[in-house]
Amino acid sequence: MDKLLVTGPHRLEGTVKVSSAKNATLPILAAALLFETPVRLADIPKLNDVSTMLKLLESMGLKIERSGKDITIDASHVSNLVADYALVKTMRASVLVLGPMLARYGKAKVSLPGGCAIGARPVDIHLSGLEKMGAKIQIEQGYILAECERLQGANLTLSFPSVGATENLMMAAVYADGETIIENAAREPEIVDLANFLIHFGVSVEGAGTSRIRIVGVSPQKKYSAPKPYRVIGDRIEAATFIIAGLMSNSHIKVTGFEPWTLDSVLETLEKMGGKINRLADGVEVLPSGRLKGAVIETAPFPGFPTDVQAQMMALMCLCDGNSVITEQIFENRFMHVPELARMGCKISLKGNAALIEGVEALSGAPVMCTDLRASAALILAALQAKGQSEIQRVYHLDRGYEDLEAKFKGLGAKVERVK
Ligand code: UD1
Repeated sequence: MDKLLVTGPHRLEGTVKVSSAKNATLPILAAALLFETPVRLADIPKLNDVSTMLKLLESMGLKIERSGKDITIDASHVSNLVADYALVKTMRASVLVLGPMLARYGKAKVSLPGGCAIGARPVDIHLSGLEKMGAKIQIEQGYILAECERLQGANLTLSFPSVGATENLMMAAVYADGETIIENAAREPEIVDLANFLIHFGVSVEGAGTSRIRIVGVSPQKKYSAPKPYRVIGDRIEAATFIIAGLMSNSHIKVTGFEPWTLDSVLETLEKMGGKINRLADGVEVLPSGRLKGAVIETAPFPGFPTDVQAQMMALMCLCDGNSVITEQIFENRFMHVPELARMGCKISLKGNAALIEGVEALSGAPVMCTDLRASAALILAALQAKGQSEIQRVYHLDRGYEDLEAKFKGLGAKVERVK
């Protein structure tokens, strides 16, 4: 199993360009199931989660060609309408194939994703939306069995603005009879990107990015095609990780390849803490800002503070003046990085879904273990500023969602080595 050796503390310098967003790529790959004509995507990141989604699509009979980072997906012959447990259990986003399969074929069998390290994560909102659209759904032997004649357009009001449920229902609505309105829809930039991808293919989608999305369904026999490859948006979570690394090390760096509005809540929080950040057309410039001061934040659906940046923010807060509080509102078990950060000298106490972080003078390198994707990023950020060497184990968590992270940090002058 690979591990990372990180030696700190170091200033960073230079420019880093983030990859295309994992969380936009995964639903767009699932949406390829909708179209009979090939889907071409440009600059798709080489990530384990992307490979898992591609394997899942291949297991259903789709033909996939990769040329460098460009991908062509041919869903003209889908032979197997089953998403098997073996793949779904490794990546929850696999459940995103349910909506498009059901819409195009009237049938789908998808393994229930089950829990994951950061929480129980049910799919009830996905399923009740599909039921309101006329699907008959049963749970048998760990699988969701869904069937319908043809989905019906419906007025759906989500009980929570779930990102995955919004995406599944948007894709299901493409071939529904009539229009579908999704109220209390998730507003994340990745939802906007999925809508833009569908629009690129000629589907009528309005309101993505607001709480009310409207999709006008067409017959499943309609042939959609797109003249050019689609380019997925830049990864705002990866960008936030580098921005925080720049501020933690009092550095001058540029982080490019993403749209700054997608990170407004994070940038505004960092600025309140004393971070100096210039917004550019395709990213931000981080200026040396000295030691930042603590803050009180809570995670929330977009446009609130993203849960996917909570762990990285905590690493920064450990080296701020004064105390900070983070309240995690989205996932019930997303503080697994806390005991690992403590091994590097962080002072954090937990009470329910809140963490109190006491700023310390310095951190010291230590052997630590990754527990989930963003927790791993927090450990790297802390290790980059800790005195001496840290050994970060179980980096496969990191490889699910960060492309070439150590190469990118090395490019900024950090001392990071991967040991096989
Ligand atoms: C997506 C992101 C993930 C991010 C999360 C929240 C992808 C591939 N993953 O995950 O990185 O952390 O959004 O921004 O895009 N819930 C239910 N019932 C449901 C669906 C969700 O109770 O049917 C709950 C979940 O358990 C969780 C909360 O709603 O507590 C948010 O989940 P959701 O927005 O659906 O997140 P994901 O789409 O799984």
